[in-house]
Amino acid sequence: MRVLVVGSGGREHALAWKLAQATEVEAIHAAPGNPGIAALGLCHPVRAEDGESLLALARELDIDLVVIGPEGPLVFGVADELRHAGIAVFGPGRAAARIEGSKTFAKEVLAAASVPAAVSLAVARAPCVIKVDGLAAGKGVFVCRTAAEVDAALGAAAAFEGPLVIEELLEGEEVSVFGLSDGRTVIPLAPAQDFKRLGDGDTGPNTGGMGSYSPVPAIGAAEVEDLVELVHRPVIEELARRGAPFVGVLFAGLMLTEAGPKVLEFNCRFGDPETQSILPRLDGDFVGALAAAAAGELSGVALQAGSEAAVTVVLAARDYPASPDHGSEITGVEEAEELGALVFHAGTARHGDRLVTNGGRILNVTATGPTISAARERSYLACEQISFAGARRRSDIALVAASAERSGPPEGAVHSES
Ligand code: AMP
Ligand code: GLY
Repeated sequence: MRVLVVGSGGREHALAWKLAQATEVEAIHAAPGNPGIAALGLCHPVRAEDGESLLALARELDIDLVVIGPEGPLVFGVADELRHAGIAVFGPGRAAARIEGSKTFAKEVLAAASVPAAVSLAVARAPCVIKVDGLAAGKGVFVCRTAAEVDAALGAAAAFEGPLVIEELLEGEEVSVFGLSDGRTVIPLAPAQDFKRLGDGDTGPNTGGMGSYSPVPAIGAAEVEDLVELVHRPVIEELARRGAPFVGVLFAGLMLTEAGPKVLEFNCRFGDPETQSILPRLDGDFVGALAAAAAGELSGVALQAGSEAAVTVVLAARDYPASPDHGSEITGVEEAEELGALVFHAGTARHGDRLVTNGGRILNVTATGPTISAARERSYLACEQISFAGARRRSDIALVAASAERSGPPEGAVHSES
């Protein structure tokens, strides 16, 4: 099988890494890819949003399956362009991708499918959450606990086009739950937790994500199945009813509140950096599942998670998320890999034989281990090998989960082998 991965971040590197392990996969191609992916396959200088050039590339390379990573091309309809030309694509078309592209549309679908979600409010009064309607790369959501925060959020939101969504501020534990779908059938993946805020202790601005871990101790396989039944299946069914079948991965951001799980948001793609922690744990035929979803034949397919835990720490640029960094030399990646970590490239470039920064989130350092605690220690040890000017990372990724594990794992948690 010849696979084309669309995108250039850490998520796409993790996808390419996982796909490259399958014996059925004879070649990995990426558009545009990154230096990490270039070690696994061939990268082509085609933008992820350029449907026409992607189609030409897929034809030229005789691609059997296109896997689209980021939301941009999906919301713009790149999957439709390829699918209409007869190419197998894992990723929803424009109509279904609106579940991420428009928060108002997502609310409408949630209500029609009777899925519990944060309630919309008519006026912005603290406490509340203010969201811009369209894609904003993680920067369009403002959690406001005070009147001053509401004022600041309304000011900042004015920079974005389109209407605002105001909703109740929910409290609880957040979890990302993923369902693979062929438009009708949905199969769950392992859950993960993401760290959205820039600073330790969940402080500072929202980012694309500063780290992740999987599994989530409170949510075992049975709980995931219940969540997929409560959230993903009704939403997929509602989208199909509207003539917008969702083929790809539906990512639900959920808050586990005292009143039960509630949807905060949907994404129409794999999470970044959740994917980097989910895929190293995944057992079973991943490429087969993606191809089955693309072909509308997911019924009967199952993917299991292994017993190991995984933790991913994001190494970001000095001024992330405000501004990216370009051209600073990166050292120590091989040393980190020698310690057994997976180093996924998220924002890097090659200048001659030097690896340099080229983005906001630069590298993702993933390690696995028998417990979250062990995976966490290995990941941070590997991070210490890597340096570039201004590198920043959170020091508390998976810390709470690792500490809880030491003081006795709750039901469904991974168990230490010692
Ligand atoms: P979103 O892009 O909608 O996932 O929002 C980004 C982050 O904002 C979420 O991961 C939550 O941490 C937070 N958030 C969004 N909606 C709410 C809500 N209704 N209540 C509390 N926090 C929220
Ligand atoms: N890590 C959250 C996201 O991918 O949107």
